[in-house]
Amino acid sequence: MRKLTVNLGRRSYDIVIGYKVLPEFGRLLRKLKIGSDAVVVTNPYIRKLYGDRLENSLKEEGFSVRFEEVPDSKTSKSDKMCLNLIKRIALYDEQRTLFIIAFGGGVIGDLAGFLASIYKRGIPYVQLPTTLLAQVDSGIGGKVGIDWTYGKNLIGAFYQPKVVFSDISLLKSLNLRQLRSGLAEVIKYGIIQDEGLFRYIEKRYLGILKLNENDLLHIVLASSKIKAHIVQKDERDTEGKRMLLNLGHTIGHAIEAATKYTLYSHGEAIAIGTVCAAQIAKILRLLSPDSFQRIENLILKVGLPVKIQNVKLTEILKAQLHDKKFIGRKNRFVLQFIGRKNRFVLPVGIGKAEVRENVPLEMVKKVIKSRLECT
Ligand SMILES: NC(=O)c1ccc[n+]([C@@H]2O[C@H](COP(=O)([O-])OP(=O)(O)OC[C@H]3O[C@@H](n4cnc5c(N)ncnc54)[C@H](O)[C@@H]3O)[C@@H](O)[C@H]2O)c1
Ligand SMILES: [Zn+2]
Repeated sequence: MRKLTVNLGRRSYDIVIGYKVLPEFGRLLRKLKIGSDAVVVTNPYIRKLYGDRLENSLKEEGFSVRFEEVPDSKTSKSDKMCLNLIKRIALYDEQRTLFIIAFGGGVIGDLAGFLASIYKRGIPYVQLPTTLLAQVDSGIGGKVGIDWTYGKNLIGAFYQPKVVFSDISLLKSLNLRQLRSGLAEVIKYGIIQDEGLFRYIEKRYLGILKLNENDLLHIVLASSKIKAHIVQKDERDTEGKRMLLNLGHTIGHAIEAATKYTLYSHGEAIAIGTVCAAQIAKILRLLSPDSFQRIENLILKVGLPVKIQNVKLTEILKAQLHDKKFIGRKNRFVLQFIGRKNRFVLPVGIGKAEVRENVPLEMVKKVIKSRLECT
C-alpha cells in the first residue's frame, strides 16, 4: 500500500493507493476515529459489484453500515437527489455518529461530498473512488457539488475528505470507454507537469488499456501526486495554480454543453479540448510542432477522439451564450471562452503549461472549426 499526504494544515489527509486493499479499509477508518456509523452513498451497480466486500471490511471493525443508493446516472448529481438523501439520512440519524463514504465515480463523489458538507453544517466523509477518473482527479481536492438547472458548478463547496482510498483492483470492471475517460485526465497531468508520466503512457498504453495492475498503479500514483501537490498549493483555486488542471476543459466543457452531456463522456470532451489547446499553443509558437504531434498521437493511440463529430461550431459557441444569460459574470468559464479577456491553459512543452489571456477569438474559432467532422 502506498500513502501520499495532501498537506492542508488541519484539513490534511492521506491518499491511500493499493491493489486489493479494500479489506484494509475498515481498519484504516477505525484508526481515523471519524464516527461509528457509516452511510455508504453509491449506486445499485457498484453496490452489486463490490458492496459485500466493503460491508465486510467495515463490519469486521465494528461499524454499523447503511447503504444509500442513487440511480446510476449523470443526473443523480442534482439538488433533488441531494435533499432526498438528506431526508433519508436524517430519519435514520438518531443517537448516531455518522460519517459518509462516497463509493463510486465522480458523480457519487461530488454528490456525497457535497451532502456531507451541508448536512448538520458538515459531517466527516471519505472518498472511496471506483473509476479511474475519480481515483486520479475528482476524488482528490475537496471540490464537491451538484449540477443545477441554471448552470454547472453554481452549487458547491470546498470540503476536504478525511481520506481518499484508491483500490486499483476495483478498476478491473470498468469498460474501455470509462477507462479512457479517466486516461484523458492522466494525459493532462503528463502534459501540464510530468513528462515522465507522458512518456510512460506512450510506452505502456497497451498495458494500461488491458488494465495491467502495475501500469494502473503507476498512473494512479503519479497522477494523485500531481493533483495533491497542486491542491496543497492552491486549495481554493485562488492562486492560479489549480487552474492548470483546466487544460483542455475550456473547449471540452463547451463541447459537453453543446451536446447536452449526451454524446461525449467528460474525458472524451477534454481530450478534444486538449488537442485544441495544443493546436492554439502551436499557432502561437509556444509549443513546437513535434510536441503538438506527440500530444495528438498519444490521444489517438489510447483511442480518445481528436475530432468533433455531429456538432456545429455555432452550437458550441451558442451553448456558452445560453449559459451566460443565466450565469452572468460569475461563470469564469464563459468569460474564458467568449469574453474579451478569455483565459486558456496552453501547453508550452510536454510537462509544462501556462495560463494565457486574450487568445484571439478568431483563432479559437479556426481551431475548433478544423476539428469539426460532419458525418
Ligand atoms: N470534483 C472534481 O474535482 C471533479 C473533477 C473531474 C470530474 N468531476 C465530475 O466527475 C463526474 C464524472 O465522473 P466519472 O467519470 O467517474 O463518471 P461516473 O461517476 O458517472 O461513473 C461512470 C460510470 O462508471 C460506473 N462505474 C463506477 N465504478 C465502476 C467500476 N469500478 N466498475 C464498473 N463500472 C463502474 C458508474 O456506475 C457509471 O455508470 C462528472 O460529474 C464530473 O463533473 C469532478
Ligand atoms: Zn476534468
